Amino acid sequence: MKRPLVISIEGGEGAGKSTVLKGISDYFEKRNMDFLVTREPGGVRISELIRHIILEKTYTEMDPRTEALLFAAARRQHLVEKVLPALDRGKIVIFDRFVDSSLVYQGYVRGIGIEAVYEINHFAIEGFLPDLTLYFDVDPRIGMARIESNPDREINKLDLEGLVFHEKVREGYMKLLEMYPKRMIKIDANQDLESVLSATIKEVERHI
Ligand SMILES: Nc1ncnc2c1ncn2[C@@H]1O[C@H](COP(=O)(O)OP(=O)(O)O)[C@@H](O)[C@H]1O
Ligand SMILES: [Mg+2]
Repeated sequence: MKRPLVISIEGGEGAGKSTVLKGISDYFEKRNMDFLVTREPGGVRISELIRHIILEKTYTEMDPRTEALLFAAARRQHLVEKVLPALDRGKIVIFDRFVDSSLVYQGYVRGIGIEAVYEINHFAIEGFLPDLTLYFDVDPRIGMARIESNPDREINKLDLEGLVFHEKVREGYMKLLEMYPKRMIKIDANQDLESVLSATIKEVERHI
């Protein structure tokens, strides 16, 4: 039996990932399709605890590879405990960020190397990859402006890192697009929301 469709949503901050995810959810709901939207650590308690260690700002001695291993460990537990059972029950699964975020943020931006981070993640998820990864490509200046104009935004570590960081993130995703031309689709997220949404739904429809 073929497993249900697995989609991941990727891109920098302010690209519109969470907003478009709502649009995709509405699309599936209207069609009475069974789906799970999830974002690591996804309420899985072991993964939550691991993420707490990663995000604790006072742990300044955290080594980049330790961090990458912890992300991979949290990812595995979330996959095994939440995602695989959902797929077994026939649900389509949509990730708000998944393994590609690690390849970009830990592998490329922090400089561990995409290959090295891929290796530990490969061990963690045993080759599990989305069928479709939608990469929302946005000019970092546009992305940051969107975040700054959102009054109820959560300020996180990434917003504060500035333009250079966001440019590097975008570069990392460009590398992944070259590495995974079949799985990854670039969506121009500089457009107005309606255009971004319709481009997204078009890709989703191509895969269901
Ligand atoms: N295509 C778009 N055009 C203009 N504003 C957008 C667009 N997509 C999202 N936004 C707005 O930008 C902000 C960030 O969107 P969000 O979906 O949270 O981005 P992400 O999850 O990628 O960080 C929100 O206030 C959202 O309403
Ligand atoms: Mg988001």
